Amino acid sequence: MGRLEGKRAVITGGGNGIGAASAVLFAREGAKVTILEIDREAGERSAAAVEAAGGACLFLETDITRPEAVETAVARSVAHFGGLEVLYNNAGGATARDGSFLDIAPEEFWRTISVDLYGTFLCSRLAVPHIRAAGGGAVINTTSIRAMKGTEGADAYSSAKGGIVVLTKAMALQCLPMGIRVNAIAPGPVLTERTRGLGMTEEADQQWQVRPGRPEEVAALAAFLASDDASYVNGTIIPADGGAAAF
Ligand SMILES: NC(=O)c1ccc[n+]([C@@H]2O[C@H](COP(=O)([O-])OP(=O)(O)OC[C@H]3O[C@@H](n4cnc5c(N)ncnc54)[C@H](O)[C@@H]3O)[C@@H](O)[C@H]2O)c1
Repeated sequence: MGRLEGKRAVITGGGNGIGAASAVLFAREGAKVTILEIDREAGERSAAAVEAAGGACLFLETDITRPEAVETAVARSVAHFGGLEVLYNNAGGATARDGSFLDIAPEEFWRTISVDLYGTFLCSRLAVPHIRAAGGGAVINTTSIRAMKGTEGADAYSSAKGGIVVLTKAMALQCLPMGIRVNAIAPGPVLTERTRGLGMTEEADQQWQVRPGRPEEVAALAAFLASDDASYVNGTIIPADGGAAAF
């Protein structure tokens, strides 16, 4: 029996990279998975991969920065699978348009805050009442090594991910009486199509001095946090970074 047997999970940004790997792993562990993804082609491809692995998957084309869209998608997921125990706030990511606070375009700053931080807030706010109604469960947020160390050149992204660290702890305190654990994963450099586009390769990362991780290596931590094996892990930020934060 899988570690997530009987659980129903919503994964945001599940069409690519870490989210796509997590959708497959969660399903292999027995979860019924709903993918909220803005990129229709990626969402459909990912849902097909989950089904090919023998899992049940619902893909809903959703922009997680739009309250009505998220509310509708979460309600459709709950209606389809009969409830919700796990929310994995994964959608987001740095872009080449980010930069120093001195020269980044202000609208790009807001776009990043909107997807990474506001999207996490919004999905959590709209999903947690359903998780509570199901008797409890887990929320997994996604921050970054960039929120744990001072870095420059990605100030919008670092700010959004820093906000997620504090939001995670605030949510954990408030969700504790509801039987809902809230933790965040802080990935280091992970090789995905998006990060390849930003110049990442299989070589040891110059900035962080570790080999890039694989999406599955982050998905493994997410599956643990979603499972009852993590029943005493709450309100914490866990790196999946090959040791980068230690340098
Ligand atoms: N890859 C890394 O090196 C790395 C490092 C640290 C943190 N992270 C974090 O991990 C998460 C996943 O990263 P990844 O590399 O797998 O990214 P990715 O780009 O491969 O996947 C992110 C997915 O989110 C989707 N998305 C973006 N905006 C959305 C929106 N408004 N609504 C719905 N979906 C939306 C994208 O379409 C994409 O499919 C992100 O939060 C990222 O910040 C990644």
